[in-house]
Order: sequence, then C-alpha cells, then structure tokens
Amino acid sequence: MRNRNIIAVVLSAWLTWISPQVNADSSKEEEVFVEWKVTDLKIQEPLAGLEGDPRWGRTVAITPTKGNCLACHALPIAEQEFHGTVGPPLEGVASRYTEAQLRLLLVDIKQLKPTTPMPSFHKNPAELHRVAERFRGKTVLTAQEIEDVVAYLTTLK
Ligand code: HEC
Repeated sequence: MRNRNIIAVVLSAWLTWISPQVNADSSKEEEVFVEWKVTDLKIQEPLAGLEGDPRWGRTVAITPTKGNCLACHALPIAEQEFHGTVGPPLEGVASRYTEAQLRLLLVDIKQLKPTTPMPSFHKNPAELHRVAERFRGKTVLTAQEIEDVVAYLTTLK
C-alpha cells in the first residue's frame, strides 16, 4: 500500500515536470505549413491568428539562416555592414504597401512576380519541387516568423 502511494507521488511529480517540457518542444509544430488565402492581392488574416513582434521580425530579417533579407535588400539597420542591391531598398516600404499586402509579398511573392529571385517564405511544401533534403516538408519561415517580419516591415514608414 505504502509503495503504491510512493509510486503515485513520483508519477504525478514526473507528469507535472514532463508536461511543460513536451509543450515547449513545439519547434516541429511551428514548422508546419499554415493555410492562407489571397484576396485582391493580399492576405488579410494573420497566419494562424498569430500576433507579430517587430523586434523579433528585425532579428529574423537580418539572420542569414532565417529571412536573410540583407542578401538582397537594404534595410535601415546601421550596424549591419552588408546590404544587398538585388531587390529594392525596404526603407519606406510600409508607405507603399498595407500590412495585408506585405504579408502576401513575404509569404509568396511569386503570385505577384512569377520570375522574381525572392524566395516564397511560407509556401505549401507539397507544392514545392526540387527541394534539398533538409528543407523538405518545411516552410522557409514559420507562421510566427512571418508575422514577426510583417510587424517589423510595417514600422518601415
Ligand atoms: C534572393 C534575393 C531576395 C531575398 C533573399 C529577399 N528578397 Fe525581397 N525582393 C527581391 C526582389 C528582386 C524584389 C523585387 C521584386 C521583383 O523581383 O521584381 C523583392 C521585393 C520585395 C518587397 C516589395 C518591395 C517593393 O518596394 O516593391 C518586399 C516587401 C520584400 N522584397 C521583402 C523581403 C523581406 C522582408 C525579405 C527577407 C525576409 C526578402 N524580401 C528577401 C529579392 C529578395
């Protein structure tokens, strides 16, 4: 009887410890493609209803393994040495586009410019062809990262 109580206590302690760990390991989940809908050349609804954080968006934009936007664009970020010239400078981009238009540009710019070298950052992996093994089944940026970058871009007035 006593043993059984000890087991119950240990088990419940372990369960309390393990559940947040399981929840914290949601990196796999975040890589999952989130459906979006284009109307009038824009995506009105935030992906998965997520709220973007402009500070994270700035980090995602300048991180080479994430957005890598600086490879092709100039951004108003003085401490970064290299700014690309393949695409237009993004300063003032929020006065040219609405948030919903920026979301489509980021998610799948090829809908507007089919031959652009800019990657589609959140396209359905099932529709992508000839993808390197480690990127297979994944989007370039997660839904959260898309919303973070959109939030950052809307600050570039
Ligand atoms: C491989 C190069 C490349 C990368 C990387 C890239 N872009 Fe672009 N982007 C372009 C080009 C080129 C255009 C112009 C569209 C075209 O092809 O005519 C463009 C256009 C845009 C536009 C529309 C700008 C305008 O004034 O019309 C936005 C917004 C934009 N990019 C945001 C981003 C962001 C944010 C990132 C990083 C997450 C990024 N791009 C990464 C090449 C790139």
